[in-house]
Amino acid sequence: MGSLINKRVLLGVTGGIAAYKSADLVRRLRDTGAEVRVIMTRSATEFITPLTLQAVSGHPVHQQLLDTGPGLKHAGAGAEAAGMGHIELARWADAVLVAPASANFLARLAQGRADDLLSAVCLATEAPVAVAPAMNQQMWNNTATQSNLATIKKNAIRIFGPGEGSQACGEVGPGRMLEPVELVTLASELFATGELDGLTVLVTAGPTWEAIDPVRGLTNRSSGKMGYAVAQAAAESGARVILVSGPTSLPDPERVRSLHVESAQEMYDAVHQHAAKADIFIGVAAVADYRPARAAERKIKKTEIKLTLELERNPDILASVAALRPAPFMVGFAAETENLEQNARAKLESKKLDLVAANRVGADIGFAADENSLLLVGREDITELPTQSKTKLARALIHHIAARYHAKNDTKVHRLQRP
Ligand code: PMT
Repeated sequence: MGSLINKRVLLGVTGGIAAYKSADLVRRLRDTGAEVRVIMTRSATEFITPLTLQAVSGHPVHQQLLDTGPGLKHAGAGAEAAGMGHIELARWADAVLVAPASANFLARLAQGRADDLLSAVCLATEAPVAVAPAMNQQMWNNTATQSNLATIKKNAIRIFGPGEGSQACGEVGPGRMLEPVELVTLASELFATGELDGLTVLVTAGPTWEAIDPVRGLTNRSSGKMGYAVAQAAAESGARVILVSGPTSLPDPERVRSLHVESAQEMYDAVHQHAAKADIFIGVAAVADYRPARAAERKIKKTEIKLTLELERNPDILASVAALRPAPFMVGFAAETENLEQNARAKLESKKLDLVAANRVGADIGFAADENSLLLVGREDITELPTQSKTKLARALIHHIAARYHAKNDTKVHRLQRP
């Protein structure tokens, strides 16, 4: 099962009596660790007030397609949500869940309409979209509704439910919205792609620390965010994940075995304890190429005008794993300030890799930032992943790796779906 921790769930509420359950749904989604924003259609506000959903979600509710307020990136905490346009909301979401989804909304979704905020966001988002239908049983069974559902399914939108039982209108049959607790479980499964089911993925992340003396060292600006996101995305895809991390201030990712090291040599040793059983190796760590030849046992005193530090080469972890026989599917990262493609291709060849994920690094990009972009250079193709949060980028990268891994190993029957 996937996890909703730190996931951004956009909840759409349409007009139906089941809208009264939406407040409970928001609360339960938040209890599992999701951040929730709410869009209400005009008719939804006849059943439950925006104020209620604002109170339980902690954010103003979105209602208007054309909003003149400030955008997400430019406004303060409270105002920001109110001012998010449909494209910003569509990009913000990791998943869109429409619950309850009325018969009218399903018809509009099937037609690809974009004449209100919720339908426009469903059309504009790259995130997975799911709907939880809720309506009278006759309306549910009507051939028009069933044909709309068939179209919606064809468009890769997931349908949660409905349940059967007695309805608010007094009739009995299919059309009840699933209970919030069931919807939360189904929503978390949107993040469990199963693409790496049964495989072991070994990931390195963060910087290394090369001691000069007991209090000083050589390191770099890697925060570990990219590597931790990759480990998390691999776990979401069903893999057993071992993360070997240099020093960072991040919490260990969920359902990942995390091993903490300091130096490149320690990272090398930890990696080689697990590399033989890895199916895929992803080197995201910014490993120091050099270390002080000798680390002083005591703090170096300020006595000389000049101090020379002698450096020696660290082992190349990535190349050493690629040299194993059999080697795992090898993915290296390349941090470059220029000639991205050329340098990535050189690393692909020299380190004998299957794929290089190249990113531009500089004063304000790559290291430590929350967003990144990648150029994926493989032996046969090049793919560009545009700037987005490291969480989303990692999911797209894992999706790409899974497809290449299964193609190389001729592993068939896999659900290769959009992350
Ligand atoms: O941690 P963040 O703040 O989120 O930043 C992410 C990042 C910029 C660190 C990440 O996206 C990234 O680019 N990681 C690779 C950084 C790097 O060291 O690149 P490189 O071009 O120097 O190394 C190429 C590859 O060899 C990398 O996969 C690296 O892990 C590996 N390597 C390098 C040296 C070494 N001694 N052993 C290695 O395994």
